[in-house]
Amino acid sequence: MDIKIKKGAVSGEKSDAAVFMLFEGEKPAGALSKIDGAQGGVISRAIASGEFTGKPGETALFHLASKTGPERIILAGLGRREKFSPDSLMRAAGAAAGLAGKTALKEISAYPAPPEGISLHQFASLTAQGMLLALYNFDRFKKAESDRKVKSLTLPASDRAAEIELKKGAAEGRIIADSVNFAKDMINAPANEMTPSVMAARAKAAARDVGLKLKILEADDCKRLGMGAFLGVAMGSKQPPKFIVLEYNGAKPVDRRQGPYVIIGKGITFDSGGISIKPSEGMEKMKYDMAGAGAVIAAIRCAAALKLPVNLVAIAPCTENMPGGAALKPGDMVRAMNGKTIEIISTDAEGRLVLADALCYAARYKPRAVIDIATLTGACVIALGDSAIGLMGNDRGLIGEVIRAGEAANERAWELPMWDEYLDAMKGDVTDLKNVGGRKAATVTAGKFLQEFVDYPWAHLDIAGTAWEEKGRPYCPKGATAIGVRLIVEFLKRKG
Ligand code: BES
Ligand code: MN
Ligand code: ZN
Repeated sequence: MDIKIKKGAVSGEKSDAAVFMLFEGEKPAGALSKIDGAQGGVISRAIASGEFTGKPGETALFHLASKTGPERIILAGLGRREKFSPDSLMRAAGAAAGLAGKTALKEISAYPAPPEGISLHQFASLTAQGMLLALYNFDRFKKAESDRKVKSLTLPASDRAAEIELKKGAAEGRIIADSVNFAKDMINAPANEMTPSVMAARAKAAARDVGLKLKILEADDCKRLGMGAFLGVAMGSKQPPKFIVLEYNGAKPVDRRQGPYVIIGKGITFDSGGISIKPSEGMEKMKYDMAGAGAVIAAIRCAAALKLPVNLVAIAPCTENMPGGAALKPGDMVRAMNGKTIEIISTDAEGRLVLADALCYAARYKPRAVIDIATLTGACVIALGDSAIGLMGNDRGLIGEVIRAGEAANERAWELPMWDEYLDAMKGDVTDLKNVGGRKAATVTAGKFLQEFVDYPWAHLDIAGTAWEEKGRPYCPKGATAIGVRLIVEFLKRKG
């Protein structure tokens, strides 16, 4: 979908449909009330009769009699005015675009009437994001790709100043949505396609597109660095592991003395469980066990495209977890990059192993803060379901910032406790650590395990419950959610 900003009135612009967003329980005002009047009050009648109430994400379609201007009106509900948040706008925009797509409309316009507290810039950005995310469709494995694609969105600008604001906002929204969709394409792809090597190729493409430094550590490089935990996981697979590092330097010279932010994403391109093999039911889902890696590659791409004034490193340790002849076995021991030894209790607790070495590797950057993101524990799905990211960390300030960024992006994170006693479960009998601490508080004990590889401000996001959408939500169709991309970008925006 192209986004065009044009000077003029929405009522003068020829289109298949003009989108208007309306609060619950409110009557048409401004441009919409003029159209309503010219059409004999069709819109106000639909509201009076309760056909359209303005509830969040509700839509209604009206055909217009006039020969000029839009052929139809799409109303989209913003919910109650006092409950308004940026998410309400994305939701309304997404629902409107979804209806346009389903109805095979090609060219739509949207009237920019930002509610109080929302600038024209934000209006354009949120509208673009809501629509582009809602229209995402992973259909390249279908013989007939859908032709129900909205081709263009036009935002009318009342004057030159509005035009500039809308253009900037739309450009930002496009970059963010494209980055989220770039992550979704990786995460939705089947594991026989999205191997660690292909992940590396995608990282390379992102690096080329937006100008990032790229380093791919091969197995030999990792061996020299002493990454026994990461390499241990890779041993059961025919696919060579790739330890992907991307760097973006956007900070102003005065800020360069501080270390970069580092984001780390778990990149298990398929988690069979290894020798501790998973039950076959639902195992196909484990192609999305690289959702963390997809999110950090997309987030750094986005940060660079937005030219955020920060220094950022993205690390994605990528490997399959397979039960090949050389695979790790329960009872095996591995040594991580910081020298700590780990007894493998279950080869299915592989995420913390690959993250352990990535967290050690991050230390070389003397980072200002590190955020890791991982589909780490089934227990997180039980604890928080698909409504919240499990959040743990060692720094109150950083944890607060992550929570607030998550709320702003509507990718909410909920903090779990990290008291010392939780580490006891992870202490080894014959090693420093073991990789499983039993059923109790399994999300937290995984977090405590990771903390043993950290010596900087750090936050850990467990996205096992939120990385995959089962039913489809507003502006998030079924499949990969690419959760974390918008949270991280929001976090970084607040730094710049
Ligand atoms: N990738 C899984 C966690 C997961 C489960 C992600 C469900 C998404 C949905 C992880 O590698 C895993 O297998 N974790 C085990 C750890 C256990 C063996 C300590 C788990 O949570 O069951
Ligand atoms: Mn596993
Ligand atoms: Zn896993």
